[in-house]
Amino acid sequence: MSRRPYVAANWKMNKTASEADEFLDAFLPTQTADGAEVVLCPPWLALQRVAERCAGTPVRVAAQNMFYEDSGAFTGEVSAPMLLDIGVDGAILGHSERRQFFGETDEALARKVPKAIEAGLEPILCVGETQAERESNDTESVLSHQVLTDLAEIHTDDLAKVVIAYEPVWAIGTGLTATPDQAQESCEFIRNLLRSRDPHKAEQVRILYGGSVKPGNAEELLALPDIDGALVGGAALDPADFGAIVAAAPAE
Ligand code: PGA
Repeated sequence: MSRRPYVAANWKMNKTASEADEFLDAFLPTQTADGAEVVLCPPWLALQRVAERCAGTPVRVAAQNMFYEDSGAFTGEVSAPMLLDIGVDGAILGHSERRQFFGETDEALARKVPKAIEAGLEPILCVGETQAERESNDTESVLSHQVLTDLAEIHTDDLAKVVIAYEPVWAIGTGLTATPDQAQESCEFIRNLLRSRDPHKAEQVRILYGGSVKPGNAEELLALPDIDGALVGGAALDPADFGAIVAAAPAE
């Protein structure tokens, strides 16, 4: 089963709209419709600007979060219709920084993921274990709980619409990358969980690795059989570095 490689830039709380413009000036002219699918995930206030500039280019745009209601008394939240209205294509959901610092729960994610799909946004669901969970051999139980709970409410027919990012928390922003064996093992484990839902759809789901992906380690990670791309934080702030990671994705 060939899966088109998928490389996403998670800018986190970095770049103003004008800094995003500078990135796009350098990055957009280098991108063609061949090769990996490329997705930029800017912070809220740069989102509309980036979506406008990427319209009509091969580069797609996703938010870093989304709420599951369409509108109402939910101060500080942003809904799927609001994202669609400005031309956004998807949303990162359940990033470990949201889970760690902002109380994101698997119960909320079990509503956000189907909401995104129903609205026509592509969910990039993040899962991953902490250092302590890995050391106590709980990696598989943590991944099972996150994947099975967060996807519980989606129709099996929609499984292939979800992109999953395996991001070991201990590898995020630390410069510590999972070894290729660790990354492949966890991504394969996630695919096996999906196979228990639907063996055929599981082969179509893009599973990304995230955690200190850099131009120097991307090629090795992206060549692994169950890794279909990368979710890149720090190295995605620089257009040349991010471009080099995109270029490291294998041909489909
Ligand atoms: P990093 O972040 O590449 O800076 O480790 C990855 C992420 O959090 O998505």
